[in-house]
Amino acid sequence: MRIPNPESRIPSMQTRVLTGITTTGTPHLGNYVGAIRPAINASRRADVDAFFFLADYHALIKSDDAARIERSRLEIAATWLAAGLDPARVTFYRQSDIPEIPELTWFLTCVTAKGLLNRAHAYKAAVDKNAEAGEDADAGVTAGLYMYPVLMAADILAFDAHQVPVGRDQIQHIEMARDIAQRFNHIHGRDFFVLPEVVIEEQVATLPGLDGRKMSKSYDNTVPLFAGGAKALREAIMRIVTDSRAPGEPKDPDSSALYTIFRAFAGDAESAAFRQALVDGIGWGEAKQRLFERIETDVAPMRERYEALIARPDEIEVILRKGAAKARTVATPKLAAIRDAIGLRAMGMAPAARAAKPAAARAGKSPRFASFRDGDAGFRFRLFAADGEELLLSMPFADPKAAGVLQQRIRTLGHAAVLREDGAALVLELDGEAVARTPQAGGDELHARLREALEQLAAQD
Ligand code: TRP
Repeated sequence: MRIPNPESRIPSMQTRVLTGITTTGTPHLGNYVGAIRPAINASRRADVDAFFFLADYHALIKSDDAARIERSRLEIAATWLAAGLDPARVTFYRQSDIPEIPELTWFLTCVTAKGLLNRAHAYKAAVDKNAEAGEDADAGVTAGLYMYPVLMAADILAFDAHQVPVGRDQIQHIEMARDIAQRFNHIHGRDFFVLPEVVIEEQVATLPGLDGRKMSKSYDNTVPLFAGGAKALREAIMRIVTDSRAPGEPKDPDSSALYTIFRAFAGDAESAAFRQALVDGIGWGEAKQRLFERIETDVAPMRERYEALIARPDEIEVILRKGAAKARTVATPKLAAIRDAIGLRAMGMAPAARAAKPAAARAGKSPRFASFRDGDAGFRFRLFAADGEELLLSMPFADPKAAGVLQQRIRTLGHAAVLREDGAALVLELDGEAVARTPQAGGDELHARLREALEQLAAQD
């Protein structure tokens, strides 16, 4: 990898995109078109480092039915895999396999204003409903529902996600995650957390359901994606409400749910042909049959994979555990640094950074930079740990001054350092640019040592 100066873009630079899928219910066509398909497409982009997880702790807030929770987790995992999610490319895991998430939830809870949570839409809606019914304001409200936004903030902040694609109903939660992150950063005086940005997919179609309203489990108007097989899919489509125009009478495609759904699956030419057929007076029954066949073209191969996966839950288990291990290479060192910073560290062990300052400095034992000229490539430097282990090798710079300026900045980063995995190595980013990388395979230990060295440098500064 060669770049002439720190301004130029490195192709390996990736945006971390993270989203959670609450594991309640059974996926329907609306979920597929509105969330699953666009997320999987986005995850295939080279500049995206996708983290997708099953939010099964969030599911517990909505349901205490163990069998349903279990079934839904399996179905949703199998659905995403069958729909083309590649677990080798995406970090795909279960929230409940990441102990750092509840751990961070508590740390965040302790800096979250209770008043902030009072304003959460879901909680307020429950309170309003109680008021209307003349009940006590908090009747039937669990502390889990109340804490929902903090758990969600931990999901996001534990992984330094840059972008969080969600539905509109979740925007407030992402804003709260930012608020909570900022508060924590402010209290502890460093940029511990990346401030996540919400991403709303404007392009994505919302499908009408059987009754013409938005397809949603809460309206009980859904068309199942895989459940019940082709038969159930066809039967549901036959139940989509239409007007009473007879065969031969022209139909209005723009007010027909059939056309909207068709378009969500078909390309322009096919959609135009379907549109014309409606205008020409195709019977509703026949139109529904065509819609079914078009959906089935896409869904049948996925359904086959789905059935195969559902039959082998042990394989899904292995995939999810591997995903959790991958996810934890980010969360484990992150939480270690946070524990240290907030005062939860071994007795008698001064904070890695602060106490290291005088002692290490006196002994000349602190991390150090070494600059060198790398042939024609330009000027580079290395960062060594106090014991001489090589931690980082910089990108080459045309200008030795630029390399020097960069070293100065690295000295001040501390917890704010953004380290990303790139294959087996770790990449240090500044202003979204890769500026240096670890020389050998990363791994937890090197990650932790590098963090420690950066802390030490920042403390000396
Ligand atoms: N609450 C989200 C929903 O119901 C799911 C979710 C949980 C989530 N944790 C998340 C989404 C973190 C994005 C990021 O849709």
